[in-house]
Amino acid sequence: MSSATPPVPPRPEWSPSSWRARPAAQQPDWPDAEALKDAEAALCGLPPLVIASEARQLTGALAAVARGEAFLLQAGDCAESFREFSADSIRDKLKVMLQMAVTLTYAGGVPVVKVGRIAGQFAKPRTSSVERVGGVELEAFRGHMVNDESFDPAARRPDPARLVAAYHQSAATLNLLRAFTKGGFADLSHVHKWNQQFVASSAEGRRYERIATEIDRALRFMAACGIDLASEEGLHETDFWTSHEALILHYEEALTRQDSLTGDWVDCSAHLLWVGERTRQPDGAHVEFLSGVINPIAVKLGATATPDEVHTLCELLDPHRTPGRLTLITRMGAGKVADALPPLVEAVRAGGHPVVWACDPMHGNTFTSDNGTKTRRFGDIVAELREWFGIHRAMGTWPGGVHVELTGDDVTECLGGAEAIVEDDLGQRYTTACDPRLNARQSLDLAFDVAELLRD
Ligand code: PEP
Ligand code: CO
Repeated sequence: MSSATPPVPPRPEWSPSSWRARPAAQQPDWPDAEALKDAEAALCGLPPLVIASEARQLTGALAAVARGEAFLLQAGDCAESFREFSADSIRDKLKVMLQMAVTLTYAGGVPVVKVGRIAGQFAKPRTSSVERVGGVELEAFRGHMVNDESFDPAARRPDPARLVAAYHQSAATLNLLRAFTKGGFADLSHVHKWNQQFVASSAEGRRYERIATEIDRALRFMAACGIDLASEEGLHETDFWTSHEALILHYEEALTRQDSLTGDWVDCSAHLLWVGERTRQPDGAHVEFLSGVINPIAVKLGATATPDEVHTLCELLDPHRTPGRLTLITRMGAGKVADALPPLVEAVRAGGHPVVWACDPMHGNTFTSDNGTKTRRFGDIVAELREWFGIHRAMGTWPGGVHVELTGDDVTECLGGAEAIVEDDLGQRYTTACDPRLNARQSLDLAFDVAELLRD
């Protein structure tokens, strides 16, 4: 796979620090320059979290998605937390993603490329750089890589030591993910065990159980036919990739390394990096930084993105038209896709960029409920996906993937779904560090809906 992916030679003027000459949106105002330098030096001396060959393998896997031969499932927390950090929560998130992937593969008929918003998703862009409560104004919470959410001046002060702490939590998380996915936990013979107890008793859980039972039967049938299942690696382990928004550029630069074999620059903080809706200015620092690393890159596109902007972003981030290099994640909101998406698809097609199209049906559908809680309706999420699949089907492009915020926990953050969470329930278990996430049952529900859309 890697040989099919030519290196992306950065422009001669690119370097890991060339972003510093560009306007960088959404950066904290680090109050202590010396402490920032110390943190950067510490990160520069630490081992990479991922290596070049892995980034190339993921590009290869995404190239299959771009060709319409596979589907991307990118999912995880809106923001990872320094506090909610445990083996159980990592395992349960992985379980939900494995269940969704099995559902999509079995019911939707496509191989699934699994990418977590995990092991590095610690920084958040904010609509306002300050937060006001009563008469008090403090710096906004920007994710645990920067500051803490408590409404307290000391907690909100950006602290560069958090960059190093985020690295260490990412390393520990990635270590466990690698063990789970390569060490037997992801073996297809355990397909029943991924169903958590509180999910198994629900309608979605029982629907999943039926698929799991059919997979068991298929495996027994193959064994009875004399197929040596033990030697089939794909049945016993899986590839699981990491991703996050490349927001805090001091962190990303410090973890960018040159591959000694090829000279390629790799952002070794994660396999895939994305640039958010608020930082994707073509002449801005984030696009400059990502244009020079060989990792697969994604760009979030809201309903106001113009064909010109998208064309320019494709030229900057995918000048060689490399399949799998660039994923475009639209997050337009239910009811807006039919107008906003077709001109972007046309512009990309005209430019000849072999992109992966993915849909984030979460970020265009956020609103504040009457009781003041940030939430999303399951119905809006499914509606945006339905519109999005419809446009791609009509235009002859492959609906390549979904990007969702979810958790393996039994939270009450998004409204609706089969368990019909209503506004009064939101306060019960609302634990997200940022945006509202689908819980395990809603996530599985969504996978069944997407599988149906894939089959149609
Ligand atoms: C996010 O993915 O959490 C996010 C902030 O997305 P966007 O840039 O699309 O608003
Ligand atoms: Co979010």
